[in-house]
Amino acid sequence: MSLKVENLVVYYCMRRGDCKAVEDVTFEIQAGDSVGLVGESGCGKSTVAFAILRMLPEPGEIMGGHILLDDVDIATLDPEEMRNFRWTQIAMVFQGAMNALNPILRVSDQITEAMLRHDSELTKDEAKEKTKDLFKLVGMDPDRIDHYPFEFSGGMKQRAMIVMALACDPKFLIADEPTTALDVTVQAQIMALLQKLVAELGITLMLITHDLSVVAETCNNVFIMYAGKIVETGAVLEIFQHPWHPYAQGLISSIPSIEKSSDQTLASIPGSPPNLLDPPPGCRFHPRCKFVQDLCKTEDPPLLDVSPGHRAACHLASGRIKDDKWAPGKEEGKR
Ligand SMILES: Nc1ncnc2c1ncn2[C@@H]1O[C@H](COP(=O)(O)OP(=O)(O)O)[C@@H](O)[C@H]1O
Ligand SMILES: [Mg+2]
Repeated sequence: MSLKVENLVVYYCMRRGDCKAVEDVTFEIQAGDSVGLVGESGCGKSTVAFAILRMLPEPGEIMGGHILLDDVDIATLDPEEMRNFRWTQIAMVFQGAMNALNPILRVSDQITEAMLRHDSELTKDEAKEKTKDLFKLVGMDPDRIDHYPFEFSGGMKQRAMIVMALACDPKFLIADEPTTALDVTVQAQIMALLQKLVAELGITLMLITHDLSVVAETCNNVFIMYAGKIVETGAVLEIFQHPWHPYAQGLISSIPSIEKSSDQTLASIPGSPPNLLDPPPGCRFHPRCKFVQDLCKTEDPPLLDVSPGHRAACHLASGRIKDDKWAPGKEEGKR
């Protein structure tokens, strides 16, 4: 199942102003692809995901744009049509979801309930069998489906939440920070599991994370988001080797590398992300950008091809402005 998001705008409209959480976001995910949506906390990643599922928390609203799942524009479906679509076509593992299991219900009851709600022909016994199969798929002992959440470790709870998302055989899965609360070895196991779902079930995956190094191992493509906008997209290897946007260059330079010397100091990007109630005009990154010029303060750079399959939204990348110190590629190579 392919996903095409076109010019998506999502605001949280509040008395103190509109939080412009997602501004003119456009991207495409091909069927069977695995894409990482990456950016600092608060840049709008979860908002993009909630908009796709049409589950925006109050007072979030889709102000414009299209969300095409195959050929269906889900931005315009009425709530009843969307209910049929959600979980059966597209599902999500929510940020912090492993703590959302109901502590007083058996895990199997919570999962079969989701299955039975969406498939009126399924019997309770069939739903239980299916839950066992899904437990096996995610690497859990099927004899444990009737356990309570407190009997599960953090990693097992997250696997159970993945089972919950898979309960109605979705073709598209969004995983929002699925490993943030887990320790490193369990993180790696969950990432391996997501890769297995893509390989074995042909699921299309959108992995949301603030950690670019997680994407490197799990995804083919990456979308880098900054302050409500997509600033760079492309194949993982290409973006890691040749980031064009100064924000992407900073992010990639801040990943620790075993190739660098042990006394390495990690580059970090000075300043902090803007308040989305009042984002800066022009390029939203300009107040933190060391290459900033006048054009950047007034004109928002569009996302343009810099090489086949690789796009960046920066006036330097499009050649509208020039700076001798800027070049595509990792910062360390240029020092
Ligand atoms: N329910 C809400 N009401 C108002 N503002 C919100 C709400 N949810 C998120 N926001 C704001 O929207 C912006 C994007 O948030 P979010 O999508 O959660 O970012 P991320 O997932 O990248 O951390 C932030 O500025 C956040 O404060
Ligand atoms: Mg989030």
